[in-house]
Amino acid sequence: MAKFTINPDKKLSRIQKEVYGHFSEHLGRCIYGGFYVGEDSPIPNVKGIRTDVVEALRKIKIPVLRWPGGCFADEYHWMDGIGPRENRKKMINTHWGGVTEDNSFGTHEYFELCSQLGCEAYVNGNLGSGTVQEMSEWVEYITFGGLSPMSSLREQNGHKEPWKLSFFGVGNENWGCGGNMTPEYYANEYRRYQTYVRDYKNPDHRGTKSISKICCGPNVDDYEWTDSVLKTCFRHCEPKFHGNLDGLSLHYYVHPDGWQDKGSATEFDDSAWYRTLSKAYYMDELIRSHSAIMDKYDPQKEIALVVDEWGAWYNVEPGTNPGFLYQQNTIRDALTAGITLNIFNKHSDRVRMANLAQTINVLQSVILTEGADMLLTPTYHVFDLYKEHQDSDLVESSIETRNIGLDEEFPVPEITESASVAADGTLHITLTNASLCDTLPIEAVVQGHAVLSAKGEMVHGAMAEKNTFEEPEQIAVQEFTDCRITEEGFALNLPPRSVVRLSVTLS
Ligand code: AHR
Repeated sequence: MAKFTINPDKKLSRIQKEVYGHFSEHLGRCIYGGFYVGEDSPIPNVKGIRTDVVEALRKIKIPVLRWPGGCFADEYHWMDGIGPRENRKKMINTHWGGVTEDNSFGTHEYFELCSQLGCEAYVNGNLGSGTVQEMSEWVEYITFGGLSPMSSLREQNGHKEPWKLSFFGVGNENWGCGGNMTPEYYANEYRRYQTYVRDYKNPDHRGTKSISKICCGPNVDDYEWTDSVLKTCFRHCEPKFHGNLDGLSLHYYVHPDGWQDKGSATEFDDSAWYRTLSKAYYMDELIRSHSAIMDKYDPQKEIALVVDEWGAWYNVEPGTNPGFLYQQNTIRDALTAGITLNIFNKHSDRVRMANLAQTINVLQSVILTEGADMLLTPTYHVFDLYKEHQDSDLVESSIETRNIGLDEEFPVPEITESASVAADGTLHITLTNASLCDTLPIEAVVQGHAVLSAKGEMVHGAMAEKNTFEEPEQIAVQEFTDCRITEEGFALNLPPRSVVRLSVTLS
């Protein structure tokens, strides 16, 4: 019997809704065929954007969408993607399959997408191969409401009003595909480029900021990058520079079998199951260690750690373009998502945005499409369960658990959990059981309150179970009923291979 203690009155930090964010790159069929089919498509769409996809993402309350990359961002020249579509310049998507990008999805289409989704915009600028002027003018084009060359151009292209730009990334993976820079070199470039990312709504920096600037952070465990970038950014700078670095990104992907041959998304054994989940749990150590370095420069935690690329990355589905990164999604991915999101919740004092890679048809997607068909993956259903945590307060909780796994090198906690209290006072608890075979009895003590009701939902299935276009609803959110109210709180039996959310009303 695992003892689970929750103190709903001990609020620790706000879980920003953006922690449940997504990422979309011009890669494979994420944008084209995934989000965007064009106005003339027989697939139902509004202004070229798929209606089925918008409805599905609104249901999980997608809070923010990062675009246009990824590695693509540092080769993207935004002016190629505005104006009449037939005149837009075509380019080679060198990173992703060498295909021709016709730029038919550009700035106007992206903001239309955000408006249909009802989500915040997170645009990633080009520092690797673009100029300071180009970056500055993009921000002016998007956000300036007065009379200026860029706002006039925007109006000429059919959009008089400026858009709301909440987050702006100053480069992507500049330690690699974004220019192969050293941390010191990048940090100096960050200082320069971000200077011209103007906040036109709040030019004197006295009111509420409207754009949060995201600095390129480390790959996985590159602690030297984190330390050097922050040191260089804060060296010999004006005190007000501190307000010019709102987030530091972290990228971490789970490759069960390593970077070269990453392993299959659907055909794997017990050992790969535990190895994958152990590697997913490694996110906890990464956040702790990078945060400890950030604490040196930013003890008040004003700079967010923004995990703007995360998820499982397997070999592509056999027979598909290797440059398109199309992979299936199973219950193993549901566990990866559930474990990772619990970790983000627990670190919500520092992790204030995260973006799963990538929304549709690429890597650990929440949606797969095939022509007019669309399916929701097990990962989608986990985001559906966890949406209740968005903008809630993380509360103190802990569970007695043990490490499990088949290889000593890859242990994973059998249970992970997180708990939050929503604005209406409901306590939402999410739990994962990584065990392949054991049902785990749990006894919860809820401190300071009586439990009035407890309603549960779960995502659960066989190890490699998935949704296919033939059987799109094999995995869906099911009711979870194996829970009863007790004198001290509640008790439940957590099924193996499950992700559960309990919504508890309190006295
Ligand atoms: O998500 C796929 C790629 O992974 C992104 O383009 C890049 O930023 C990362 O290396």
